[in-house]
Amino acid sequence: MPMSERCDARPSEPPSRRTGISATLAANEALERKRREGVPVLPMAFGEAGLPVHPALRRELADAAGRNGYGPVAGSPELRAAAAGYWTRRGLPTDPELVVAGPGSKALLFGLLLIIGGEVAVPQPSWVSYAAQAALTGAGALFVPTRPDEGGVPDPELLAEAVRAARRRGRDVRSVVATLPDNPTGRLAGESTVRRLCEVARELDLLIISDEIYRDLVHASDETVSSPALFAPERTVVTTALSKHLAAGGWRLGVARLPEGAAGRALRADLLGTASEIWSCAPAPIQRAAAYAFSEPPELVEHVDRSRRLHAAVAGAVAARFTAAGCRVPAPQASFYVYPDFAPVADRLAEQGVRTGAELAELLLDRYGVGTLPGSAFGEPAPALRLRVATSLLYGESDEQRLAALEAEDPVELPWIARSLDRLERVLSEVTAAEPVPAGAALSAVG
Ligand SMILES: Cc1ncc(COP(=O)(O)O)c(C=O)c1O
Repeated sequence: MPMSERCDARPSEPPSRRTGISATLAANEALERKRREGVPVLPMAFGEAGLPVHPALRRELADAAGRNGYGPVAGSPELRAAAAGYWTRRGLPTDPELVVAGPGSKALLFGLLLIIGGEVAVPQPSWVSYAAQAALTGAGALFVPTRPDEGGVPDPELLAEAVRAARRRGRDVRSVVATLPDNPTGRLAGESTVRRLCEVARELDLLIISDEIYRDLVHASDETVSSPALFAPERTVVTTALSKHLAAGGWRLGVARLPEGAAGRALRADLLGTASEIWSCAPAPIQRAAAYAFSEPPELVEHVDRSRRLHAAVAGAVAARFTAAGCRVPAPQASFYVYPDFAPVADRLAEQGVRTGAELAELLLDRYGVGTLPGSAFGEPAPALRLRVATSLLYGESDEQRLAALEAEDPVELPWIARSLDRLERVLSEVTAAEPVPAGAALSAVG
């Protein structure tokens, strides 16, 4: 197949800098409307960790509430030292001078894309915001398919082909994103793929942005993340945040680890310049709590461990429901996402007028109150019948239920989680049934 058919060959016109509200946030709002209309909903669109903040972290934040000065643009020395320790314990020795904190890793990623400039190669599929941010910078994204079941890393051979072809057409591709582990697929690319990515990045002089926000949520405790920073330290930026493993997305705190050497120092100076003009510094009280979090006291390590096990149990149970309904589902390896492909039941969907991922997500939302996101939100072609299903908002509607889920030996047996799984099973068997159910007789009528 020629390259142009495999990779998203966008025109060399600059992309529009206008962007609508992020797909995840929009789906969340649509689901909220359904809920207000009294429709029983299964909220599986929004990638929020769905767990309460640990009491020790709350205490740290409360104690730091009096910190009202701006502080250094790069973040407080205590936070940078703690983040450096966090990475060092993961086999990435880190100089605190090369750590920059910001209000969420999303803001840091955007700052990085702005200063690196040029187009960015991103995995297809990949997290909704990379391509949207690349469009906002005015340069745009080059989607490169991943290897089968190795979501998060553009197939290195296709990357080399795509970047060379794009450059021949006068396009200026300067960086590549890897998501390890991945959102939307819940998969973790293997070491050999990451090594090859690094070789290709070196050959083509690409900077690597390794988004490792789900690093601590790999389901199997003996499986490790191979960061590109191990194999191409001179050209890899690593980002992470408090949002996922510590379920504190709303606190808005992320950190970036810049490469060593002259290039890394120049990047740091530019990032600080950009940060100083946009956010000045990350919120000071949150920085204090983040320093505590990245120092990894035993109670937080245990908490993250429990969260990891809960995410694994529920993602596994949700994946099993999709598999039973005839979908092809890459086994979830990390985070709280499942990425089923309805291609094997495409004929049955077509009988119901569903021919695209977006139509499938719409059917599930409108008829059943099941919120998901279509693969097209992640850069997949419209006809791909793939959905990103986030499983973590099934843990409960109150902190009490979510804590019980965290404590439970077998969380999928808890009545409210079991009910959601049963409902999902019934919805999926109806949607993929050989005899389509007439709209009026659908499950939505009975809740
Ligand atoms: C892959 C990935 N990267 C980055 C982010 C942004 O996280 P934050 O800005 O909360 O640090 C998210 C959030 O959904 C994500 O899924």
